[in-house]
Amino acid sequence: MTAKEQSALDFGADGDRLKKRTVKDGLLITFEGGEGVGKSTQAERLFHKLQSFGIDTIMAQEPGSSDLGNNVRRWIKRANSSSPLAETLLFEAARAQLMFETVRPALDRGKVVVLDRYTDSTLAYQGYARGGDLETITQLNNIATAGFTPHLTVLLDLDPKVSLARVSNEPDLFGTVDGSNVPRIDDEGQRRFEEQPLKFHQNIRKGYLEMSKADSRWCVIKADQAGHRIADAIMKRVRRLLIERDIPESVFKS
Ligand SMILES: Nc1ncnc2c1ncn2[C@@H]1O[C@H](COP(=O)(O)OP(=O)(O)OP(=O)(O)O)[C@@H](O)[C@H]1O
Ligand SMILES: [Mg+2]
Repeated sequence: MTAKEQSALDFGADGDRLKKRTVKDGLLITFEGGEGVGKSTQAERLFHKLQSFGIDTIMAQEPGSSDLGNNVRRWIKRANSSSPLAETLLFEAARAQLMFETVRPALDRGKVVVLDRYTDSTLAYQGYARGGDLETITQLNNIATAGFTPHLTVLLDLDPKVSLARVSNEPDLFGTVDGSNVPRIDDEGQRRFEEQPLKFHQNIRKGYLEMSKADSRWCVIKADQAGHRIADAIMKRVRRLLIERDIPESVFKS
């Protein structure tokens, strides 16, 4: 959305501030999946769509989106080897800070929070892929978030052979489904997890698919579809959640 369009949403013709729509106790939507499956692309897309409907929305990314998180991100990328426990604790520290500083205050004000990775990433990466104890990680996740579970978790599921080709520096041998050639949103040079063997990424995928069977907050979407189709499937679920929270259907017709 352009600054002008945003301003038109924020202010009426007479300069009065129009109240953006909020929902009671907020709505937390998380995006999960392996490397390069399209999480940031779809999180951004949803964020802009909800804003264009006049719904009070913020977007954040783990482990960035806080000073501590950015330092953790840099350290993890630089480290040649780190203990899975140290890695888990660092991610949890960044998560606790993000919850305290950004996510909880936004939810308390009734905003929709779109979060690019959350607790399930730690279970998938440090648990299923790196062999950390799932029970311990679950406990640490609960400590860091005070047990706050997302209302919706979008799992973008894709064969790692395809997703890694999308984000490698090599030409994309598989081609893009929708012909898009959009540059990566959060590329910061060397990316340690991407350099792990294929098996590591397959374990991540398996872990996510297993977790997604556990409860109804998950929405699993095949991520080898055109971007707009994925966005439509996500919006369908989000729309339902918002309507259940008294956002009028007419809002989504604009
Ligand atoms: N549906 C799609 N079809 C083909 N290519 C896509 C699709 N969605 C995103 N891409 C491309 O795939 C690449 C990775 O997308 P994106 O950065 O959104 O993934 P990600 O899941 O956030 O990755 P990471 O885990 O590394 O943060 C980008 O080049 C993006 O343009
Ligand atoms: Mg991303």
